[in-house]
Amino acid sequence: MNMVAERDESKFFIPDHVPRDMIHPFDLFADADIRHSPFDATQKMRGYGRVFWNPANPLFKGSWVLTEARDLRYVLSNPELFCSKGDAGFMTQGDTLELIPLELDPPRHGKFRQLLNPLITPAIVSNMTHGVTQKAVELIDAVADKGECDFMKDFALPFPVSIFMQLMGLPESETETFLGWVVALVQTGGTADDNLAMQAAAEKVAAYLTGLAAERRANPRQDIASYVANGKIDGEPLSDKEVLGTLYMLFLAGLDTVTATLGWFFYHLATHQDHQRQLREDPDLIPKAIEELLRRYSIVVGHRRCTRDVEVAGVAMKEGDWITVMQSMGSTDPAEFEDPLAVQFERQNIRHFAFAFGPHFCMGSHLARRELDVSLREFLARVPQFRIKAGSQAVTHGGHTFGFDTLPLEWPA
Ligand code: HEM
Repeated sequence: MNMVAERDESKFFIPDHVPRDMIHPFDLFADADIRHSPFDATQKMRGYGRVFWNPANPLFKGSWVLTEARDLRYVLSNPELFCSKGDAGFMTQGDTLELIPLELDPPRHGKFRQLLNPLITPAIVSNMTHGVTQKAVELIDAVADKGECDFMKDFALPFPVSIFMQLMGLPESETETFLGWVVALVQTGGTADDNLAMQAAAEKVAAYLTGLAAERRANPRQDIASYVANGKIDGEPLSDKEVLGTLYMLFLAGLDTVTATLGWFFYHLATHQDHQRQLREDPDLIPKAIEELLRRYSIVVGHRRCTRDVEVAGVAMKEGDWITVMQSMGSTDPAEFEDPLAVQFERQNIRHFAFAFGPHFCMGSHLARRELDVSLREFLARVPQFRIKAGSQAVTHGGHTFGFDTLPLEWPA
């Protein structure tokens, strides 16, 4: 069966310097095999060699795709050669808004990280544990007696939104409004209607955060929004645009990523009853299981652009070429991990790419790990052995984060 979307080759981007035998088209959003099983479908791309050219990447006018951990590490560690400016422009709908710090390059990037790193330290995350746990328990208790839920709608989507509200010092009462925006922003099927809804949501989020920054400048509190709105670099206050770019990044970065990762974790446990049992019997294994599951399900696909002509993996790339950085390729490289597609909670030395590598390493990794830990611990403690609901199907999607639209679970009520 041909699972690949009908391709319009007239829309391919193939610069002259790309060798014709290195071209392998795919569409991360539209190809049926990627939508139905993103990790399996992209795994097959290892067969195209160490690096290949994807001409069917309209957002970046075609891009190189790396399939080995050593090359991903090289690109991610060298921002002077491979910059990230423009990487996420599509998420702000073509606006000139820069997502900070993701789309900054040295030396500005380092200065912003220095300003922002103290915001989500292990100590701060520890202080949030009570609130994080309370929210998780509340959401789980609402479904536990029902014997079933749509894990995405009932838990994986609202949970990180609520944690974001706590992190930013925003009222719980506005969670529903934010949730609506998040759904429009991340659950896009790529249709014209979806894109309009996405654009409208992006504008509303930007307007809300602009208002929030103005309010916190006038009346600062002890919260992240106030810290960013009144932040200074080299003695100069951040501009309005920098404040908005930072708040918008914090909003986007910690929601869809946690939602999608939770989806894969719970899908894995629902379809691997032995692993679920193992964690129920020995909850001390949860931190190790989290690292192994993060490795196996590294959901983010990022991009970098060559700042000059440069050779990568033996291929001559030109200044301006984009490179697709699929973190899952690094996390499941057979050169670095034995039996890389198998989930083994006892695995040692898990240097995965789930939170990337190098200067843009995820700023929220401590909070993300805590959210994952609390979710697993509380769900397993409150809900009996669960599985995919009989007669239903989990619906996945591809794109720049691999995730789920729905994940129907059931358990003995
Ligand atoms: C399981 C959940 C998460 C995953 C898998 C994840 C993954 C990533 C990845 C792969 C990057 C690097 C992207 C690139 O270089 O192109 C990144 C960057 C970032 N993440 Fe996360 N993330 C998660 C949760 C969070 C949370 C909860 C926050 C904070 C609220 C957060 C904040 C950020 C920020 C601010 C950056 C940009 C860092 C920089 O450019 O220097 N992330 N994340």
